[in-house]
Amino acid sequence: MSRVLNKKLRKKITNATDAASFIKPGMNVGMSGFTGAGYPKEVPIELAAQIKAAHERGEEFRIGLWTGASTAPELDGALAEVDGISFRTPYQSDPIMRRKINEGSAEYTDIHLSHLAPMIWAGSVGHLHTAVIEVTAITEDGELVPSSSIGNNKTFIDRADQIILEVNSWQSRDLEGMHDIYYGTRLPPERRPVLLTHTGDRIGQRNFKVNLDKVVAVVETDSPDRNTPFKPADEVSKMIARHLLDFLSFEVKKGRLPKDLLPLQSGVGNVANAVLSGLLDSPFDYLTSYTEVIQDGMVDLIDSGKMRVASATAFSLSPEYAAKMNDNARHYRDKIVLRPQEISNHPEMIRRLGVIACNGMIEADIYGNVNSTHIMGSKLQNGIGGSADFTRNAFISAFVTPSTAKGGAISAIVPMVSHHDHTEHDVQVLITEQGLADLRGKSPKQRAKLIIEQCAHPDYRPMLQEYYEHSLSVANGLHTPHDLRRALSWHINFLEQGTMKA
Ligand code: COA
Repeated sequence: MSRVLNKKLRKKITNATDAASFIKPGMNVGMSGFTGAGYPKEVPIELAAQIKAAHERGEEFRIGLWTGASTAPELDGALAEVDGISFRTPYQSDPIMRRKINEGSAEYTDIHLSHLAPMIWAGSVGHLHTAVIEVTAITEDGELVPSSSIGNNKTFIDRADQIILEVNSWQSRDLEGMHDIYYGTRLPPERRPVLLTHTGDRIGQRNFKVNLDKVVAVVETDSPDRNTPFKPADEVSKMIARHLLDFLSFEVKKGRLPKDLLPLQSGVGNVANAVLSGLLDSPFDYLTSYTEVIQDGMVDLIDSGKMRVASATAFSLSPEYAAKMNDNARHYRDKIVLRPQEISNHPEMIRRLGVIACNGMIEADIYGNVNSTHIMGSKLQNGIGGSADFTRNAFISAFVTPSTAKGGAISAIVPMVSHHDHTEHDVQVLITEQGLADLRGKSPKQRAKLIIEQCAHPDYRPMLQEYYEHSLSVANGLHTPHDLRRALSWHINFLEQGTMKA
């Protein structure tokens, strides 16, 4: 049975080819999608085919693509492959999109995930011509039931000139009621407090409102979200998770954290998932999470009764867990709230709730500055995502990484980071499989000692120590001693000789 219950929108049902043809060269297009969840499955592929055909005819056809965050090969991958994206924001992690950005053929604005919606309202990123949004259903009175991610959909639906909807019957109909769509955000000077004081609070409405006159096409689909399975946690991830859990236990013992901790935010990836698995066997109970994505490990915590409520903007589940969520959405919707990303990542809530943030990084330097986005200074990996929304405003902010990369040829602890995403002022705890450095209340020189001793790989410790002592003797000041001639020499060595050990 069709999930398009509204009579007016029923008349707009068409195929993906006709729907995609509403998108014209040069348009800015806001598409749903957040970490492989809730992205449109058919229109982007059709659009890519139309772009390819236009290029073969010698016509220019590229779009500006805005989303919630990363998507899937059928969206970022398909459009990047045909050189269909001239501008991309706010986050991506697709290999083909990444290649186009690093080749210099696509422009990318890598911004905090909480920032895009207000920037669209302010008009500072340009005009939004089209929204392409996946929904679970359209109600009789014309409301849109969100699917497995919310991201920036509310803003795209409100601001776009025209809207294309994909109604995906693969998404569980029981998702209705899991979402909390807050319509109270305003631009300054009209901004008011967002009155969300507990992770599970509901302050908005279940479904999206939409101006039916703006909907130009509705496409019915039945395709699964495409999330990659998590790798089973390796020994390094498990050691990192153990260091973090020991640290949290110590904080509880010292009376600096309550027994049920504070709301947890967990970054993307396998290490983050290993931390969540570690919590399953931990003494902590009655946990909550105020985060960006719901991962497998969080579902396990909910199932075990250890986590009472989780707030996010999207799912990031393996195929097995996505199927489980689909079968049991009715059960989970009391324990999970999906919100627009301007609320899931809102500094006001993160600060008020006292979130414990834990994110992955590429490298950190001996003073605690963190690079999350660039390889060897110039090459983009993914983007900053929501890591700074959380880090800057967290009660405790931690970063995790294995101490080396590329078989030991790269140290994740370096004299100076080759790109800055999180400054020493925001980073409180650094963790590798070697150990944990609690940087709170420490001066740069005290931090350097701790980071080298606790986090660096033994192969690199003497080299870091030598750099630090040398800097003490040549620096123009002894607050944050550096030898600027040598500060980036480790990266140069890797680029020229394939190893930082050179
Ligand atoms: N120097 C050079 N390359 C490095 C490196 C370093 N110090 N550290 C890692 N890499 C390489 C890895 O070798 C790997 O390369 P490959 O793809 O060629 O195999 C790649 O970077 C990814 O590393 P991996 O260990 O698989 O990373 P991950 O999945 O744990 O992700 C980040 C780490 C930093 C890339 C990821 O957490 C990220 O994108 N963070 C920013 C966004 C974010 O934090 N989002 C969550 C906010 S809610």
